[in-house]
Amino acid sequence: MFSVFSKTTNAVTRRCQDDEMTKLRKKYDVYYHTFERQVGSRVWEDGKEMVMLSSNDYLGLSTHPKVIEAGKRALDEWGSSTTGARLANGSRGYHIELEEKLAEFLGKEACHVSVAGYISCMSSIQAFAQKGDLILVDRNVHSSLWSGIGLTQGKVERFAHNNPSDLAEVLSYEKPETPKFVVFEGVYSMEGHISPIQEIVEVCRDQNCFFVLDDAHGFGVLGSSGRGSADHCGATDDIDILTGSFSKALSSTGGFVAGSKDVIEYLRTHSKQTIFSASLSPVQAYCASASLDILQNEPEHLERLWANTRRYKAILESLGLDTWGSETPAIPIVLGSKERVYRFWQHLRERGLFTVMSIAPAVPPGKDLIRTSISARHTDEDFEKIEEAMAYAARRI
Ligand SMILES: Cc1ncc(COP(=O)(O)O)c(C=O)c1O
Repeated sequence: MFSVFSKTTNAVTRRCQDDEMTKLRKKYDVYYHTFERQVGSRVWEDGKEMVMLSSNDYLGLSTHPKVIEAGKRALDEWGSSTTGARLANGSRGYHIELEEKLAEFLGKEACHVSVAGYISCMSSIQAFAQKGDLILVDRNVHSSLWSGIGLTQGKVERFAHNNPSDLAEVLSYEKPETPKFVVFEGVYSMEGHISPIQEIVEVCRDQNCFFVLDDAHGFGVLGSSGRGSADHCGATDDIDILTGSFSKALSSTGGFVAGSKDVIEYLRTHSKQTIFSASLSPVQAYCASASLDILQNEPEHLERLWANTRRYKAILESLGLDTWGSETPAIPIVLGSKERVYRFWQHLRERGLFTVMSIAPAVPPGKDLIRTSISARHTDEDFEKIEEAMAYAARRI
């Protein structure tokens, strides 16, 4: 039968039809699941109830009454969207308020918010790096930072993950006067490792280094009242750019770049992601702002997150599962091959846990893993289910 959908063929449409990775993804049906319902830490897929163990709602604020109320108020006061970039059709009062509040919270002079953490991370590098600069990057950083690096003409050198000595060695081959970026994360989301920020800063002294720290998974989780990894390591003043996301601890969507006034004004002049893309929506901003207030005024969420994290790690360790030395609520279960990971993932699903697989090349060879993350909202009942399901899966691999 004639179909309008199969009418055009060219090299790229054929590439899409024949792509082996897409075929494998669809065959094993591991990613892009759709849930028809979500209540607290539970999700429902085709009527089956599961504990969500792979989202990043660290503080469990996505259904907090104050966050919901703020989101509704945003729609009433500002409508759904600014429908344009700030350079062209202006900032709104709520952008400035959120930026000032965040800058103060993080201990920086200024801040710029955007529609996604991915965009903020990209612009933290794209806006600043020029030809002749050297970009030193921890080899395990997030895709958003690599995307930002890819848009520059800087020379790139990788250093071993969380390894200040290797960074020192790479630096020893370079001229001190060359402008350098050091790009790293506060908490690595796959591994759950905290960066040795002080040591990294120390080996870079007098080397003309501009530090870009992506703290998507440390912000709201580590440091005093959740001020993040740099605060946790006593290194806030050493970091030139603190960037991160609203889609984890702040239970919204969007991202931020915080730094000195000069740095943020420079970003507004040179960031393509800022100049040519619409601004943060009212609902995103109001929800992030409400969560930031809660973070500062209701310490019980952060306390519960860490109590839950300790409880969860104890379960995994009692079963002899390898958590790759995770020190944070982002906790991998390393199984070492994609076959073992797939079977483990299926067993967890069977017993009512929803997790996500991460396999090489997304992780180093031999580190294929199930990526899980804990939330303040996981309940006693959730933990009973988690313990039973993990034991079931561990017995079968
Ligand atoms: C380390 C890291 N940086 C940046 C991002 C991007 O954040 P967003 O989801 O807000 O775009 C993520 C999201 O997964 C992340 O894990």
